[in-house]
Amino acid sequence: MPTPRDEAEKKAKPAKQAGKPEDAIKLLMTDHREVEGLFKKFESAKDDNSAKADIVAQICEALSVHAEIEEEIFYPAAREALSEKGEDLVDEAEVEHESIKSLVEWLEDAEPGDERYDAKVKVLTEYVKHHVKEEENELFPKVKKTDLDLDNLGGELFERKAELMGDNEEDDSN
Ligand SMILES: [Fe+2]
Ligand SMILES: [Fe+2]
Repeated sequence: MPTPRDEAEKKAKPAKQAGKPEDAIKLLMTDHREVEGLFKKFESAKDDNSAKADIVAQICEALSVHAEIEEEIFYPAAREALSEKGEDLVDEAEVEHESIKSLVEWLEDAEPGDERYDAKVKVLTEYVKHHVKEEENELFPKVKKTDLDLDNLGGELFERKAELMGDNEEDDSN
């Protein structure tokens, strides 16, 4: 049961958090499309190092927040709903996140022009593409067939995402 305080907090959300997606899978797929768009932008930036740095910062933030909400909320729920049918898939997804996060960590401390910078972005693009394909073609369809409450889960993902993005904004102002 939501407390009156929860209700008040919901109402106090800033306008940029409006447009809440209906369900968990839609929310995650919207994130996927957003990151794909950023990778395309990176490719078109060619030799513009300041644009590249800016785009990579956005990619790193988007991937970190997305990985976090999946690991904290979506994967455990999927694991429970699918039980042994989902075990291998969710295990694989978590291992893929580890590789993605290690490239993100490297890129967060690097800048365009550094040795292997473009190669790391390229490999990150490929890892993410592969990972997204597995989620969308294998994991999500399986989860949809369970009785998991995707609307409710979407709400949880949405709240946590807003929280994590707020944290990052505070860090940026330091
Ligand atoms: Fe994802
Ligand atoms: Fe993922």
